[in-house]
Amino acid sequence: MRMRTSPCLSLGDRLLWVQCFSQTTVDPNEVKRFQLLASKWWNEQGEFAALHSLNDLRVPFIRDNLLNAHGKGLPGKPLAELRILDVGCGGGLLTEPLGRLGACVLGIDPVADSIGIAEVHAWHDPDVHNNVRYRSITLEELSEKGGKGAGQFDAVVASEVVEHLSQLETFALCCNQVLKPGGSLFITTINKTRLSYALAIVVAEEVLRITPRGTHDWDKFVCPMVLERLLESHGFHVESVRGMMYNPLSGAWRWTENTSVNYALHAVKLKEDTSPDDEDDPNDPITVAQAKARRWYN
Ligand SMILES: C[S@@+](CC[C@H](N)C(=O)[O-])C[C@H]1O[C@@H](n2cnc3c(N)ncnc32)[C@H](O)[C@@H]1O
Repeated sequence: MRMRTSPCLSLGDRLLWVQCFSQTTVDPNEVKRFQLLASKWWNEQGEFAALHSLNDLRVPFIRDNLLNAHGKGLPGKPLAELRILDVGCGGGLLTEPLGRLGACVLGIDPVADSIGIAEVHAWHDPDVHNNVRYRSITLEELSEKGGKGAGQFDAVVASEVVEHLSQLETFALCCNQVLKPGGSLFITTINKTRLSYALAIVVAEEVLRITPRGTHDWDKFVCPMVLERLLESHGFHVESVRGMMYNPLSGAWRWTENTSVNYALHAVKLKEDTSPDDEDDPNDPITVAQAKARRWYN
């Protein structure tokens, strides 16, 4: 069931509404599916091979956007002192490289067995082990008002996760809640097109068996424009959307202008209070998006 909200509610009221009515992003069937795959995360040639190689694009994408926003960290540890939340971290395939870059990363996933695998794997590398923590908890639980997660993170990462959620609106609200003002949200996901049905479901699951059959449900895929509108109505400004292309023969990913199958998105949480100086330039995209968001919330 999709949540209907009134544009008259403030963001805080909407979050309270979500919590009161126990809205959740968790689809129990997805949890069962990933539970069965929990032992496979670190097999680089196995079911999650494409996620291992996706690090070649997504790690630099996250690193470079965070460096642009926060400036350089320590040599060899460019993301030092940044706090990142990896939502739907699975076995920690993306959590670990972010930890190696110096960030303090919390990986969360509703599948407890995946969290167990991630914890054991992180133990082998001191660089990772000192910087990453894992919890089997939902984003909704973490973001609860007054909870430890509220306003704590410089960045939230949800890579190949939103296509497995039961509700995107709750996800957007909770991401806003856990981020600091000006914090970054990074999403990689699958577009909702005929081509994505053909490639991500028919070819990848049924013909080449790159991903297990039943992993994806086309109804849950989301177009970049729909995701962008949703985020912009929940207090974010979308900075960039980039297409990504997977080559099943080489197992490699590359950037492309074409977003019709896979894409990466970077959004920034708006700062609620802007100084009069910030509002001087009516053409500034952040100012425009903030004005739009204010109209929606008030
Ligand atoms: C395709 S995997 C991606 C894992 C990891 N982000 C990566 O790219 O290596 C999707 C992950 O989303 C998790 N997941 C499913 N429903 C979720 C929810 N409601 N909230 C957070 N994570 C969820 C699954 O347990 C699984 O670990």
